Amino acid sequence: MDSQSNQKDETASGAPYHVGIIMDGNGRWAQRRGLPRLAGHQAGVDNIRRILESSVEHGIKVLTLYAFSTENWGRPPEEVRGLMRLLGLTIRRQLNELDRNGVQIRHSGRLAGINPELQDQIRHALEVTQHNDRIILNVAFNYGGRAEILDAVRHIIADGINPDDLTEDLFSRYLYTCDLPDPDLIIRTGGEWRLSNFLIWQAAYAEYYTTPTFWPDFDEAELHKALVEYAARERRFGRVLQS
Ligand code: IPE
Ligand code: IPE
Ligand code: MG
Repeated sequence: MDSQSNQKDETASGAPYHVGIIMDGNGRWAQRRGLPRLAGHQAGVDNIRRILESSVEHGIKVLTLYAFSTENWGRPPEEVRGLMRLLGLTIRRQLNELDRNGVQIRHSGRLAGINPELQDQIRHALEVTQHNDRIILNVAFNYGGRAEILDAVRHIIADGINPDDLTEDLFSRYLYTCDLPDPDLIIRTGGEWRLSNFLIWQAAYAEYYTTPTFWPDFDEAELHKALVEYAARERRFGRVLQS
């Protein structure tokens, strides 16, 4: 069915194929320790490695991490600058190891608006790792679900697509996530129960899981807990399941 064409079956192990994580709570994690917010963001970046490794062990094939939203530009300039610097530093420090470990890096979001030097670094990371296939690490940076939909509409109009030919499947192919299957599970750390503009089209039928644990404290055991809960969910996609 058209609306389910981007829905892929689970992995053989029953783990979700595509997991999206809204990595929230870095600021509060730092505040609790009397540290500046940026120390929380650094701790958040440090946490990515263990969750990425643990995801591979669980058989997850695509991990999308929400790192910077289009709304996050509204934060104090010093924090925005710090977050930009952190992405650049992380690419510089981690790219070789990620590549060696078979991680394919993708970017979802607008490159426009990001400083040109950082844009180059992002493009470089994508290019270097494009043939890796152990896991896809899709970084949602300068990402907004509404901006993504508008960008898709702009491209569809520019391509002269006939309105009668526009299907959900075709539309999905104009999104930043074009060839990735829809997320099966969205995890939000930091306790909020909202999507904050994350994958709003793609998450139409994703399972949602939230935990009060701040992102820097979200460890392997926490991921395991989320996956156990996911495995117990019954995904119906609007249908009635035959028993
Ligand atoms: C999430 O942590 C990281 C980004 C949005 C970049 P926050 O910075 O939102 O942390 P809290 O929600 O203020 O604790
Ligand atoms: C969502 O967290 C964005 C990222 C994790 C990158 P926010 O902290 O920006 O979301 P709100 O403000 O609580 O909705
Ligand atoms: Mg937050």
